[in-house]
Amino acid sequence: MKISPSILDADFSQLGEELDSISGADRIHLDVMDGQYVPNLTLGAGILKKVKFPREIEAHLMVLNPENFIESFIALGCKTITFHIEATGIPRAISLLKKLKSRGVLAGITIDGFTDPDWISDEILSLADQILVMSVKSGFGGQKFMDAALLKVEDLRARGFTGEIEMDGGINLENASEVSKSGVDIAVVGSFLFKKDPKERGEIIRAFHVV
Ligand code: DX5
Ligand code: ZN
Repeated sequence: MKISPSILDADFSQLGEELDSISGADRIHLDVMDGQYVPNLTLGAGILKKVKFPREIEAHLMVLNPENFIESFIALGCKTITFHIEATGIPRAISLLKKLKSRGVLAGITIDGFTDPDWISDEILSLADQILVMSVKSGFGGQKFMDAALLKVEDLRARGFTGEIEMDGGINLENASEVSKSGVDIAVVGSFLFKKDPKERGEIIRAFHVV
């Protein structure tokens, strides 16, 4: 399974070394929170553009109005941009997915920890390049994995979604194989990785690659 470390729990006082320690990852997950969609506030593109990322980056927009953020994250160089269906509803999600694709980025839609996958309509299923299934309630790192997320992935696969499925929240090496077996292609891992000694992280990333 591929791995996309979330830098939310990285040690920002030495971000360069932290990023070096995860250079074996498949891409880097940027958690963007606006303090409205979730009760937390994190990083905007203005700060992030000062950072040299060793791998491809993806933006997870936990914001009420993702339309306001996509240009700055496209300019930042994000290959994938994903936003929450709960923030936009279906019609806005459809037009935003089309807009992202027209701008040449991979268009992702996210369903939160307690959201029913039925919110992903057939049209969204056919448009999305990626579906991000949250295995926690968005907003914070270090939460407990929600097993119900695995059933959502199986449901999306059963509905014929063949694009990339990413899972995010509470993932570690204990639950990684069931996450992979459910049909997930790429795991977002934050606190499990960044709580470990930087010297151990390369080994941990390789362990995720073989599940
Ligand atoms: C939560 C974020 C996740 C989180 C993952 O809202 O979207 O990316 O930071 O961190 P862990 O792996 O600690 O749950
Ligand atoms: Zn995330």
